[in-house]
Amino acid sequence: MTPTVLLTGATGYIASHTWLALQAAGFRVVGVDNFANSSPQVLQRLRELSGQEPVFEQADVTDLAAMQAVFERHQPQAVVHFAAYKAVGESTAQPLAYYRNNIGGLLTICQVMQQQGCKRIVFSSSATVYGAPKTLPIVESSPTQATNPYGETKLMGEAILRDLGAADAQWQTACLRYFNPVGAHPSGRIGEDPRGTPNNLMPYVAQVAVGRRARLSVFGNDYPTPDGTGVRDYIHVVDLAEGHAAALRRLFAHEGSFTVNLGTGQGYSVLDLVRAYEQASGRPIPYDIVPRRPGDVAACYADPSAALTLLGWRANLGLARMCEDSWRWQSMNPHGFEI
Ligand code: WQD
Repeated sequence: MTPTVLLTGATGYIASHTWLALQAAGFRVVGVDNFANSSPQVLQRLRELSGQEPVFEQADVTDLAAMQAVFERHQPQAVVHFAAYKAVGESTAQPLAYYRNNIGGLLTICQVMQQQGCKRIVFSSSATVYGAPKTLPIVESSPTQATNPYGETKLMGEAILRDLGAADAQWQTACLRYFNPVGAHPSGRIGEDPRGTPNNLMPYVAQVAVGRRARLSVFGNDYPTPDGTGVRDYIHVVDLAEGHAAALRRLFAHEGSFTVNLGTGQGYSVLDLVRAYEQASGRPIPYDIVPRRPGDVAACYADPSAALTLLGWRANLGLARMCEDSWRWQSMNPHGFEI
């Protein structure tokens, strides 16, 4: 029988790409979202890309009654939990909103899963749990140290799931620590569409390339890195989505829980990415070097070998494809999903 998987935060950037990957992998997908940080237009695009009517529920994951109704209607055998606020700076300014939404949402989902006997969950975690890494590349046993409320909610989320599994061996939890998700579906029909000024590098660069922003500010070129700018492990969102399918296959095929890094293992600097984007788009990306952004680390990239060993998954798409697919999305949708 085809397993039904519930995606929370389903119309968001990573979740919408995962929706397509899970359907292609043979899962029946049910999406739930409250559109707090995404557009209903995504559903239209998913309908077009998958050739299927998306099974979707508009609801808030912190709403216990609504989640109970969703579970009773769809009887999922697993959950991929994406729904969370994810802006580091915003989390520092609004910690209560982040704890309420990110921790409250996870607790509500787990409570309903427990009630309904659904005990497989894939949790969207983040490399931000490593804080400022002491050694590179980062392995899953590297020390964790949240440096902002957003990172705390990811670390606490992992602890909640760990304790749940320790209390009840029937629970199977997969914590996926994303490095830097970028890029877009090769069709150009879905992609990253941040509201307001993008916090992250690639969407900002994309908006400069398409003419929505004049210049990029490079946050510091005095780091101990090859060209002085920050180095990160950028991973194509399509590779990341496949990582979720691989994690779910493992949860259904084997007992037990796991935590893995989802990264490429390759670090690129800010200027590497700018040059690659100019190459992919044929557009100049003018920039200014400005002071460092508080909280940034010099370099952060994964040792992705555990995911290969455990899930048989590795990232395949390189920086050029990440930029090409991002540019196709941005140039086809200069103002994102909102027309
Ligand atoms: C990448 C590099 C910046 C913007 C964040 C979150 C992390 C995760 C991924 C959720 C850094 C530089 C950036 C700009 C710049 N999100 N930069 N100018 O900070 O590695 O990670 O997003 O899970 O939790 O912390 O990603 O894209 O913001 O920055 O120079 O306008 O680009 O200094 O070196 P980051 P980023």
